[in-house]
Formats: sequence, structure tokens, C-alpha cells
Amino acid sequence: MTSPIPLVDLGLQHGEIADEVREGWDALLESKAFVLGPPVTAFEEAFARYSGVSHCAGVANGTDALELSLRALGVGSGDEVVLPANTFIATALAVARAGATPVLVDCDPDTQLMDMDAAGERMGRKTAAFLPVHLFGQMAPVERLAEAGVPVVEDAAQSQGARRNDRPSGSVGLIAATSFYPGKNLGAYGDAGAVVTDDDELAARVKALRNYGSERKYDHPEMGFNSRLDALQAVVLSAKLRRLDAWNEQRRAAAALYSELLADLDQVRTPVTLDGNQHVWHLYVVRVPGRDEVLERLNADGVGAGVHYPRPIHLQGAFAHLGHREGDFPETERAATEILSLPMYPGISPDQQEQVVEGLRRALA
Ligand SMILES: Cc1ncc(COP(=O)(O)O)c(C=O)c1O
Repeated sequence: MTSPIPLVDLGLQHGEIADEVREGWDALLESKAFVLGPPVTAFEEAFARYSGVSHCAGVANGTDALELSLRALGVGSGDEVVLPANTFIATALAVARAGATPVLVDCDPDTQLMDMDAAGERMGRKTAAFLPVHLFGQMAPVERLAEAGVPVVEDAAQSQGARRNDRPSGSVGLIAATSFYPGKNLGAYGDAGAVVTDDDELAARVKALRNYGSERKYDHPEMGFNSRLDALQAVVLSAKLRRLDAWNEQRRAAAALYSELLADLDQVRTPVTLDGNQHVWHLYVVRVPGRDEVLERLNADGVGAGVHYPRPIHLQGAFAHLGHREGDFPETERAATEILSLPMYPGISPDQQEQVVEGLRRALA
């Protein structure tokens, strides 16, 4: 009898940093710098450096990071933001929460990243920003939007450590938002997120917006939010950031092994990496026929496979008011019925991966 294999195993990472986190938390309890104190600043400086930009503002979660990035740019009511239909719902929620209208586009059939030609075609008078998503751990080819003269906001929630043409995730747009939800490549022990940018003014605006719209205590020139990165989470994130490259390397090795083990399974389409991309394999997503049944069989076999995401944004009740119908984004809809995320995390063993692939072989038989 083999043991179950989870989709993500966070315990392995914790084992490596447990002592450091405990020491950091003890020091924090001693100092009582619970809100925007030295641990938050230290993490912000380290993550800005890691992202190849000059500023980082830690915020409460990735959805807020996106919303505050858009608001800092002045995006709001009457504006349109172009984003992929194939993403987690938070990308679109952030646009709506900023008061703008999400304009959805289909995805590339090979990578499931936003179709950049379609994005360019949807640009119009009201387009205030492009919001490409670096889905599953590889960066979208955003350089193709550079000519348009419209700000690019990166959704970098799934791409910490990824690079495109040697530029780090978070450094190719005007501003970028990321999530440190626990299962992310750089995950906190609760909700957390950040905005990174090279632009001094945008960084200052995000820092004010996250702090009740205030740069100086009790002075509020505009309305803001309470959305600050928690200091306890900053301690965890600093400890994990030091190990992120090594953990991403382990993900890359695991992805290479999956592709090798799956090579003779003709029914399985393995993921495609775009030229110029250094992938960080937040998720290893294959495509299979009869996905729902395959998923059920795998789960019953103790393999924690999952689906990211089973229902595209334009078919969600939350966005029914956009007036889309089934058939509007055929590549996204096809992907939603075929994609299957296999267990992927630093420390997954070759034996476990063989067990996953054997399970998949049985499920497809
Ligand atoms: C692509 C994408 N965008 C945005 C978010 C939102 O981040 P959060 O859950 O931290 O609000 C997530 C993750 O949850 C995500 O995967």
C-alpha cells in the first residue's frame, strides 16, 4: 500500500525554516513592532531586490495588491482593463473592485497564457491597462504589449522567481502584484501579498493606499484601505525568500522528470514552455481526454491532482453582467475541460512522481 500524495506539501518547506521562524517570531513578540515595523521593511527591501526593481509595498493579499496597483495608476470608473478569461477569479475581481470594467480575452492554446494578439485587438479608447497573468509559473510575453502605450500591470501571483529573457517576474510591467497565499512558490502562513515597481510615485501611492490613504499619521488627502503586510508573515516570507531559488530548482527538476515519465503516454499533452522563459512550475498542468473521470480515479487512487481552473471567468455568476456566453472564448473553455494539475512541490520524490504517473496510466486505461 503506497501513501497518498498531496497536490502540495507545505510541511517540507516548514521543516527547513521552522527554527528561523520561531526565532523571528520570538524577537517580534519582544519588540512588539506588529504593524509595518522592521521585519516588514526588511522583507520589502529583499523582495524588491529579488524582483529587480527599486520598490516593494507589502499588502494584505494578492487581490488587494492588484486593486491597489490599478488604483495607484488612477484606473477606475469608466476605464477598461484587458485581462485573460483564463485566470483565477481574483484577477477580474480586482479590476471590478477598482471600479473599472474587465475586458476578457482568450488564451493561447499551447500555454494557456493570455493571447497577446487578441489582447491588442481589444484595445480601445477606454483601455487604461493590460493585466496579463504569469500563469502556472511562466511569464506571459508582455513585451508584445509594450508598443501599445498603455500601462502593463503584471499579475505575478504564480511566478515568484520566474524570468523572461532574463528579466525577473515583476520587472517587465510598469507595476506588478503578487500573492503570498500559502500554496504559492513564496507562500506565507496566512494571507499576504505585495506590489513591486520601479516607479517612485506609484510606490508611494500604493504605500499610502494600503495605510488609510495616508503618508503622514492622521493626514488623509484621499480615501484608502487598511491592507498592510502582517509583520508575522514578513518573518516567514524573509526566511522562505532565501531558499526560493533552490526550491524553484527542485520544482524544475520535478517538472523535467514528469515530462520524461509521461513521454510514452500519447493521450497526455505535457505543458509547453515559451522560448525565453525560465519556468518556476507553480503548477504542472497536463491536458487529458475525459478529464473529470481521470481526476476522480486519480483522487480515489490517493493522488491529489486538481484543476486550475474548472470554470472560466466569463462563465462565473459573479461576472454574468459582462454578458458573455459559452463559446465566447473557445480555447479557454476547451482548456477548462482538459487541464489537470499533478502534484508539484519542492521535495516531491522521484518515487512519488512515478506513483503519480502510474496512477495516471491506470486512470486513462
Ligand atoms: C493569478 C492569481 N491572481 C490573484 C490571486 C489572488 O491572490 P490572493 O489569494 O492572495 O488574494 C491569485 C491567488 O490566489 C492568483 O493565483
